[in-house]
Amino acid sequence: MGEEQAADRCGDGETGVLVLGATGATGRLVVRQLLESGNRVTAIVRSGGKIPEELHSNPLLTVLEKEISQVQVGELIPLMEECDSAVCCLGHTMSWKGVFGPPGRLVADAVKLLCQAALQIDRPGPFRLVMMSSTGHRNADFHEKIPLPDLCIRFILKLLLPPFADTIAASEILRTEIGPSDAQLEWVALRPDSLIDRAEVTSYEVCISPTRSAIFNPGQSSRINVAHFIARLINDEDLWNIWRGRMPVLYNRE
Ligand SMILES: NC(=O)c1ccc[n+]([C@@H]2O[C@H](COP(=O)([O-])OP(=O)(O)OC[C@H]3O[C@@H](n4cnc5c(N)ncnc54)[C@H](OP(=O)(O)O)[C@@H]3O)[C@@H](O)[C@H]2O)c1
Repeated sequence: MGEEQAADRCGDGETGVLVLGATGATGRLVVRQLLESGNRVTAIVRSGGKIPEELHSNPLLTVLEKEISQVQVGELIPLMEECDSAVCCLGHTMSWKGVFGPPGRLVADAVKLLCQAALQIDRPGPFRLVMMSSTGHRNADFHEKIPLPDLCIRFILKLLLPPFADTIAASEILRTEIGPSDAQLEWVALRPDSLIDRAEVTSYEVCISPTRSAIFNPGQSSRINVAHFIARLINDEDLWNIWRGRMPVLYNRE
């Protein structure tokens, strides 16, 4: 992207970001980091009361209470026209209803909706989308080799756990339906390993493919480090250009 397009992207100097899953453990950290970076944030949440009070009072934050599975593409387009990027931190609630109840394709349907809207927006440069995927997803573009025992367990997890299949389906929409170099929509599917909570950003590494078994030797990824990397991706043109169309894996350094 040339300098002129980069200037257009920033518009009035505050890059606008639409965030889904902003009330989640990672999503709220993403919102905080984006606001601290000076981004305008529009969060679509099902319960606005879950956004921390100190974020609510931030003039850069707009919170819209809507159930994402009920949102139509026509409603999303005007919101996305006000933004440059979107971040999807949606994930199924870890309860029987959250895991096995509707909507089974929460993340994949939301990613599809974001893609449909992004492809209909008339804007000077490509819209950018970051989604939280997982190391359980193999990036077939990079011919990632998975040992047979891992593959067998992933196969069973995909059959038995709808959220696992949902995350994979969402990343596959980006990889196969949008592809690595679409003129209207660029994306990054970030793959954290086992998510943990830490109070502060610590040292982390970002790899093009997993360097350890997600099943038998998983690494750790602090949610706050994930949020830090997402905010950097949104705001750092060079970093974005390294990772667009890819599925980076983030590990805390031990
Ligand atoms: N756990 C891990 O080790 C791990 C590893 C790699 C990747 N991941 C992926 O990382 C993502 C985020 O993880 P997290 O721990 O930050 O998630 P989380 O705390 O469970 O947050 C999930 C978000 O999704 C929203 N949500 C859930 N069900 C919804 C529904 N039916 N309609 C609308 N919104 C809904 C939640 O809203 P409410 O606040 O209203 O419930 C919340 O904002 C997930 O996709 C997960 O698969 C997890």
